[in-house]
Amino acid sequence: MDKVALLKQKSAEALKGGGEKRIESQHKKGKLTARERLQLLLDEGSFEEVGMLVTHRSRDFGMEKEVYLGDGVVTGYGTIHGRLVYVFSQDFTVFGGSLSETHAEKICKIMDLAIQNGAPVIGLNDSGGARIQEGVVSLGGYADIFHRNVKASGVIPQLSAIMGPCAGGAVYSPAITDFIMMVENTSYMFVTGPNVVKTVTHETVTSEELGGAQTHASKSGVTHFACANEVECIEYLKSLLSYIPQNCEEDAPVYPYEMGNELRAKLNTLIPENPNQPYDMKEVIEELVDADSFLEVHKNYAENIVVGFARIAGRSIGIVANQPAALAGVLDINSSKKGARFTRFCDAFNIPLLVLVDVPGFLPGTDQEWNGIITNGAKLLYALSEATVPKITVITRKAYGGAYDVMNSKHIGADLNYAWPTAEIAVMGAKGAAEIIFKKEIAEAADHDAKWKEKEMEYMEKFANPYGAAARGFIDEVILPEQTREKLIRAFKMLENKVVNMPKRKHGNIPL
Ligand code: COA
Repeated sequence: MDKVALLKQKSAEALKGGGEKRIESQHKKGKLTARERLQLLLDEGSFEEVGMLVTHRSRDFGMEKEVYLGDGVVTGYGTIHGRLVYVFSQDFTVFGGSLSETHAEKICKIMDLAIQNGAPVIGLNDSGGARIQEGVVSLGGYADIFHRNVKASGVIPQLSAIMGPCAGGAVYSPAITDFIMMVENTSYMFVTGPNVVKTVTHETVTSEELGGAQTHASKSGVTHFACANEVECIEYLKSLLSYIPQNCEEDAPVYPYEMGNELRAKLNTLIPENPNQPYDMKEVIEELVDADSFLEVHKNYAENIVVGFARIAGRSIGIVANQPAALAGVLDINSSKKGARFTRFCDAFNIPLLVLVDVPGFLPGTDQEWNGIITNGAKLLYALSEATVPKITVITRKAYGGAYDVMNSKHIGADLNYAWPTAEIAVMGAKGAAEIIFKKEIAEAADHDAKWKEKEMEYMEKFANPYGAAARGFIDEVILPEQTREKLIRAFKMLENKVVNMPKRKHGNIPL
C-alpha cells in the first residue's frame, strides 16, 4: 500500500474507536463519544492528538486478535478560550474505556507534559475500570497515574469530569484532582458497586443512589458539580477554568472592567432587624461581585457554608461565606471540610480570598463530637491560617466564639477586616452569656425572666456590636454595607503584590 494511504487508513481506523455499533450504543445511552466531548471542550481546530496509534500489548485471552488504535483513550492538548490545556478522554467504545498498561502510559505522558509545561490537565472519565484481561499491569498503570496526580497537586490545576462509570481503584485519580463534575443519570462513582454492597452489608441500592451525581453532590461531597447533561458539564469545565491560572506560579486571567458607581444600596437593607432571622448570604455575594460572575462550588453539599469563585473588578477571587439561611450558618464537620479544601485550592493557585462572616459558632452535639468536629473544624482554621494569598474579611452579623477566630480573623493573618454596623463580635450570644455569667443574680431575682432579659440587654449593649473589636484594631474599619464593594475593589488592588515569607519546612501537617 502507498505509504500516505497507509497513514490515512490508520488515522481513519483510530477515529472509529470501537466501531459504529458501539458508538451507536453509546449515543443511545445519552452519552457522547470521547472525541465528540473533546470537540465541545476545546477551541475549534485546536486539538493536537498524541498517541493515536498506541495499541495494547496483551496476548492473553485472545486479546492479540482484538486491537484498537489508541487503546481506549484519546490524549493530547489544545486550547480553551485560547489557553493551553492537556486532555485525556476515555473511549467507552473500546473495551469499555478500561485501563490497560498502554492506556495508562498515554495518560501519564500527557500528565508529565502538563506538569513540565505548567498547564491544566482535564480528564474526561468513562471507563469500566482496570482492563480485566491484563491483571496487575493495569493496576500498576492506575498507581502511575495516582502518583502523578499527587505530584501535580498544587502545581497545575487538575479537573475531572465523570461521564460514565468510574468504579473501584479508578475513583482515586479524580478524588485527588482539584474539582470533580458528574453528569446526572449517566455517571457514577463508587469503590464497590451495588452487587458487592448487597453481599457485604445486605443493603439494596441502585448505582444512582449509591454513587450517582446527586448522591455525591449532596451526601458525600465527592463531586463539586452535578450537571444535567454532558454539554452542561463541559460548559462548567470551561467556566471554571476562566477563574484559575495555568499553574501555581501564574495569576488568574484578568477581565476588562471599567469602574463606575460601585455603591450597592441594596446591601443596607439585607440584614433583618431580628438577629435570629435568616437571610440569604448569596444575595450579599451577588451585590459584592461583578454581575453574573459568581460560580458556586459544592452548591448542594454542606449548605451552611457557601464557597465559589467570582470576579471583583475583573479579578478572580475565591469566596468562603457562612450561610445564615442554612442551619443559621453554623460551622459543622462538613462545612469546615468544604471551606478548608476550597481555601487550600485558592491559596495554592494565587486566588485572593474573601471571607464573609455570619456565624453563631460550632454545632453542638454527640454526632458532631464523636465524628470529630474538633479535628475537622481545625481544618478550616488551619487552611485559612496558612493561606498567604490576600485575605479580606467582612463580618456582616454574628462572629461568635471560636468561630470568630476561625473565620479569617485578623489574628490568623487576614490582611483587612471589615465589619458592618450590624456586626456582633462576642464569645457567645447575649442570651446564653447572660444565663452563665449572671446565673446567681437571675436565680435570686423575684422575677427570673425579667432579670434575665435585663442582663441579656446589658451584655448585648456591651458586645453585640463591632466597636470593641474595632477599638483594638481587630477590625480595621466599620463600613456601611453599601460601601463594601468599593472597599473590596480598592483593598484587593492594594494587596495585589503581597508577599509572605514562611519558615522553611517540608510541609505542614494539617489535621486530616
Ligand atoms: N476490562 C475489559 N473490558 C471491559 C471492562 C474491563 N474492566 N469493562 C467493560 N469492558 C468491556 C465489555 O467486555 C464490553 O465489551 P464488548 O463491547 O466487546 O461487548 C464493553 O466493555 C462494554 O461493557 P458492557 O458491560 O457491555 O457495558 P455496560 O454499560 O452494560 O456496563 C460496566 C458497564 C462498567 C458496569 C461493566 O462493563 C462492568 O461491570 N465492568 C467491569 C467493572 C470492573 O469490575 N472493573 C474492574 C475493577 S476496577
